[in-house]
Amino acid sequence: MTDPTAQTPARLHGLLEQSAEAWGKGLVVVDSDLGIVLCNDRARELMKFPEGVGVVGQSFVSTLCFLALGADAATSEAREAIGNQLLPVIQQEPWSADRIETGGTVIEVGYTPLSGGGFVYTFEDVTEARLLVERNRRLARAHMVALANLAESLDTNAGDHVLRVARMAEEISRILFEQGEFPDILDGFFREQIGTASIAHDVGKIGVPDHVLLKPGPLDADERAIMNRHVDSGRAILEKASLLVDGALHIGLGIEIAETHHECFDGSGYPRKLAGDAIPLAGRIVAVCDVFDALSHRRPHKRPWPVRLAIAYIRERSGTQFDPKVVKAFEAVMEMRRRVILLRWEAPLRLGHPDIDEDRRGLVSLVNQLASAESLRDRSAVEMVLDEVLGHLHACFRSEEEAMRQGGYPDVERHAALHAELIDEVRRYRQRFVDCFGQPEEEGLAVYLCSWFQEHVREDGDFRHYLVIEDADPPKIASRSNGLS
Ligand SMILES: [Fe+2]
Ligand SMILES: [Fe+2]
Ligand SMILES: [Fe+2]
Repeated sequence: MTDPTAQTPARLHGLLEQSAEAWGKGLVVVDSDLGIVLCNDRARELMKFPEGVGVVGQSFVSTLCFLALGADAATSEAREAIGNQLLPVIQQEPWSADRIETGGTVIEVGYTPLSGGGFVYTFEDVTEARLLVERNRRLARAHMVALANLAESLDTNAGDHVLRVARMAEEISRILFEQGEFPDILDGFFREQIGTASIAHDVGKIGVPDHVLLKPGPLDADERAIMNRHVDSGRAILEKASLLVDGALHIGLGIEIAETHHECFDGSGYPRKLAGDAIPLAGRIVAVCDVFDALSHRRPHKRPWPVRLAIAYIRERSGTQFDPKVVKAFEAVMEMRRRVILLRWEAPLRLGHPDIDEDRRGLVSLVNQLASAESLRDRSAVEMVLDEVLGHLHACFRSEEEAMRQGGYPDVERHAALHAELIDEVRRYRQRFVDCFGQPEEEGLAVYLCSWFQEHVREDGDFRHYLVIEDADPPKIASRSNGLS
């Protein structure tokens, strides 16, 4: 065998370069004088280095600028100047981070300082691996939604409710994190998992008999006791599931939520009358989201409350039922949702049928929330609103078509085909969005939905004369109906 130390530096360099290529990763090695010692083809290809960047024997400074800012610094002089400013931030600790290229390719960039001075950058295309993680995450979420639907009667639209609760729980967590609250609890894991974990908050209702679960009106003491047991059943169901999969972290957080989402901040809740910080933060967050959503949406026995009344209800109970910090973050979420208005709820959009109009109003609000998430480039929020939009469109269109059939509207089949077309379109858009980490190339969906909706309302005009409108009851405001359980 040849003595490796007897190899010429050029030969050793060549071997190193070949090894790096065989490894499949892009590699840039920089010595302690900031000179580029090695830069393989894979690095050039993945990072799309332009001329003058990643050149062996030259200074790393302009390559550093390109890595940090991409194509923004076009000339080599500008790159050199900016690179010099960036040098002090080169760290001593190794790190790795994902970089999303336009077009959606995800490149994992790794940095490792070398013990004798100098450092190594590695680049790897991890798009497939990251997509697999995303698909698994969506699958976990879909399973949780199916479980939530199973636990409640399908008539209660539990699927839509839990998705809305999940999104709001994520938004509140993000705001609390940005405000620097609960730094020991609100780590990346918590913020990523709370949405999926919250979905099963009422899974224990599977054990509640229908005559209690679907009772139209307040429960008596015995029925209330039966209903309240859903928190312990929920915990037991999820604990059992958690035994099957080590590392299904959202189930662990889900157990906490199922068990504590009816505890009150002042200790007057159930089942254990926990108070203040003794209630896990996830339970305190979901408590607010759950009650707000139950109030502001239709349930079998009640009309939705106007949003401002539902917000007032939550605010009035800050410090008693709810954690004041969580209520503050909830109000910030509601404020943000109000800010972007792409579509207004105005007379031409109304049909004069209370249920259909209520659905449409919900759709208008979702279109605005989608526009807001798109403008913030908040990927996770866009994805969650897309899920809600699809669920909502399904429900809206189903009841509209039902009302059309009931009223004997002759054009119902053609109209239903228009609905189906839009659902297909939104589903395809979501597929493209989920399967690509970059921004979709086409215009935002919110703008498309907005114009579709305005156009479609004209189609609905003829149908107005066939409407059968039953007596609309005013919103029922009960302080504690089973809708809030
Ligand atoms: Fe709920
Ligand atoms: Fe329609
Ligand atoms: Fe509950």
